[in-house]
Parts: sequence; C-alpha cells; structure tokens
Amino acid sequence: MKIAVLGTGYVGLSTGVCLSQIGHHVTCMDINEQKINQLRKGISPIYEPGLEDLLTSNMVAGRLHFTTSLNEALADAETIVVAVGTPQGDNGAADLSFLVQATKDISSHITPENIIVIKSTVPVGTNDFVKKMMEDRCGFKVKMVSNPEFLRQGSAIEDTLKADRIIIGSESAEAAGKIQEMYRPLNVPMLLTSTRSAEMIKYASNAFLATKISYINEIANLCEAVGADVQDVARGMGKDKRIGEAFLNAGIGYGGSCFPKDVKALLHTAGLNGIEFPLLKETIAINEYQRELLVTKALKRFGGLKGKKIAMLGLAFKPETDDMREGPSIPIAVELTKLGAEVVAYDPVATENARKIIGDTIKYAGSIHEAIAEANAVFIVTEWNEVKCIDVAEMVWNMKEPIIFDGRNCLSEEKIRVCSSVEYYPVGKPPIII
Ligand SMILES: NC(=O)c1ccc[n+]([C@@H]2O[C@H](COP(=O)([O-])OP(=O)(O)OC[C@H]3O[C@@H](n4cnc5c(N)ncnc54)[C@H](O)[C@@H]3O)[C@@H](O)[C@H]2O)c1
Repeated sequence: MKIAVLGTGYVGLSTGVCLSQIGHHVTCMDINEQKINQLRKGISPIYEPGLEDLLTSNMVAGRLHFTTSLNEALADAETIVVAVGTPQGDNGAADLSFLVQATKDISSHITPENIIVIKSTVPVGTNDFVKKMMEDRCGFKVKMVSNPEFLRQGSAIEDTLKADRIIIGSESAEAAGKIQEMYRPLNVPMLLTSTRSAEMIKYASNAFLATKISYINEIANLCEAVGADVQDVARGMGKDKRIGEAFLNAGIGYGGSCFPKDVKALLHTAGLNGIEFPLLKETIAINEYQRELLVTKALKRFGGLKGKKIAMLGLAFKPETDDMREGPSIPIAVELTKLGAEVVAYDPVATENARKIIGDTIKYAGSIHEAIAEANAVFIVTEWNEVKCIDVAEMVWNMKEPIIFDGRNCLSEEKIRVCSSVEYYPVGKPPIII
C-alpha cells in the first residue's frame, strides 16, 4: 500500500517507519524543514530506542521517504495518516489547530478513493467535524477512519510492532477493511468500532491509566502515614488479575505529552456534555500535589533550602526518551530555584530539550558524578538505568551530606544498607537512616 503520513513527531515517525518495515511504501511529510532535512540524512530528530536503525534500513530499501511537500507526499498515496500534534489548548480543551490546518491542506489534493486516517488523539466528534469540513471543500464523500495510537515513548517501535490492540473506528466498512489489511502483517488483535467509540477509547484508556497512577500515589501517601510499604502493597494488589501489575509504581506523578493533556481534554468534553466527572478532577489534583512531593520532603528535612546544592538526577518525563513535555523535573527545578537552592541536573539525553524549557536558572552536568559532587541532597526524578545502577555508597561519599530523595523508588534497599552513613527518603515507604 502507498501511504502518506503527516507529522513526523513521536507518533507519525514511529508509525511511518513501522509501516515501511512491514512492506508498505511510505512518505512522511512535515512542515518542519529542519526535521525533514535530518530525517533525509537518516538521523532521527527524537531519541527512541531502535528507531534510527529501522529508519535507515527502510530508507535504503527504498520504502521510506521524507518531504516537506504535501504534493509530493500525496501524489500517489492511497491512505493518508494524520499524526500532527493536538496539544493542550485553552480551558483544558485539545487545541485542534494543527489538525484543522492539515486536513484543510489535504482537501485540495485528495480523491474519493483516498482513506483519511486520524491517528492524532482527538476529542469525540472531531472525525465527524473534520469529515464535514473536508467534504464541504472537496465536494465528494470522504472516507475516514479513526485509528488512535497507544504507543509509549521510550518503547514506541516495540509498542507499534507488537501492539496490544489496534482500534479502527469508521462508518465506512470499505475504509475499515482497507486499514485492517494495512495492519494485517503485524498480526495484532484489531477491534472495529464506530468513529466516536474509537475516539473515546483513547481518552478513556489514558484517563484510566493516569487515575491508576494517582490512586497508587495517594495509597503511597497513606502508607507513609501508617508505616506500610507501598511497593509491597502494589505487589500484593497487582497479583490480582482484575487489578494487574502495571501502572502501580508510586512516585512523583505522571507527565509527558499525553496523560496530562488527555485527562484535561476528557474532563473538558465531560463538562461540555453536562457531566462533572469529579474522579478526573481528583486524578489531576493528586498529580499536582505529587509533583511537589520531593520539594516538600526536602523542606521538612532541611527547614529551608537557600544555598543548598541539590543534584537532580533525570530531567526527561520518563526513561528512554528525551521528551521534556510536562516533566515533573520542570516544576521541581522552578520551585527549588525559587527557594534559593542551587540545582545541578543530569540527564543522559534530555539536557538540550530541558535547557530550552528551564533555561539557565539551573546548571547542567555532563555526568552523575559531576552533578552529585558536594551536593547537600540528591533528587531522583527519572529512573534511568544509569541512575538505578548507581553505586550508592560511592555516591554519598562524594556528597556534602548523604541525603537522597528518591522520587521513583528506584534504588534497592540492599544498595542503601551498605552505606556507612545515609538518609534515604523513598515515596510511600519508611525512610532508611543510617
Ligand atoms: N507522544 C506520544 O507518546 C503519543 C502517544 C499516543 C498518541 N499521541 C498523539 O499523537 C499525536 C501526535 O503526537 P506527537 O507526540 O507525535 O506530536 P509531536 O508534537 O511530537 O509531533 C507533531 C508533528 O506534526 C507536525 N505538523 C504540524 N502541523 C503539520 C501539518 N499541517 N502537516 C504536517 N506536519 C505537521 C509538527 O511539525 C510535528 O513534527 C497527538 O495527538 C498526541 O496526543 C502521542
């Protein structure tokens, strides 16, 4: 199949690369010239394990192309996949301006045979709205499919090639059938639904996962108060198949380009339809509180943070990505700076992106060793492997004070217990003070 993908962000690029990997001819188009120039050289503009290898091998095989020209991308494409960003807009609603622009642009290039696949996360009713807008412009019935994406940054390729499910929402049986064919080589379970149900499945899934995180975080806060260990509690809960083990890691809350905006967008949709959805409001409120947790704990421990050197380990919103969008590291850095602390941060891949957001109010180190030297405390913000593998005894030896606030519960108790002197404050577990 000949496919055009609009948008080469985390979703568009991973989708384009994976569709070419299963034998389709794919042209990825983006309005960002710099990204396309990099991609043409076989360089991925984002950090995503395994992506660059598949990118180059499919380019060499002649199945994957990149362009900034819509004409070129759509020239002989049968299927057009739209994967442009839908960031958070006013009042929590999704900002659909990129999507509206992209679909307006394609209206003048498409034929009745084309299938338009909306992969961007969009509120219920958006596919219908876009379809009408396109039909008003081009004067014929447009075949649309809502095909929301569920990949996780950091494992985007694996998640795309081995997805749990593919959702195909359409009012056109012919279009749904063709998209099923497109994905058939992946051998992944597919669920055919109405367009509106497909749109809803995406938001309902993300909001559920975010709520699961906020739930375990609130349990963690209660565990601290009553002297229980949230990791044992989560293990015990997770063994129940009805609950499951995933998304029960207590910590400093969810972030990233999806959960925060998708929960708010779903709440906005609920509001528009006269439904209060207080559960989602609490999910958001707990997450806000959780993002402050390490600063709150440090303030309690030190009394004040003026002049204290805090080493922040990790900046990306989660490991294996360089994405900083809605990362808890941002409010933590801002708050620490406001309180007069000197912050030195280290991240293996997200430093450049962090600098664009946080700026030079904090310092950036080239290694963990450099960040922790003479620090009064370490904040673990992202559970990178490099951080999990730290020799804790050696680390605290190089600090001014051996104090660790672990926002991801990623250091093992054994590693802490070998230290001759340490104060270790995890989330939802009793501290270890030696
Ligand atoms: N990032 C994720 O983990 C993830 C997971 C599932 C779903 N989603 C959803 O997928 C969508 C894309 O997310 P992303 O993280 O890949 O976004 P992104 O911001 O990383 O990338 C979007 C890309 O679209 C390009 N673009 C904007 N307007 C365009 C146009 N008219 N024509 C061509 N390209 C255009 C931008 O230049 C950018 O490169 C969003 O709706 C998001 O909510 C994201």
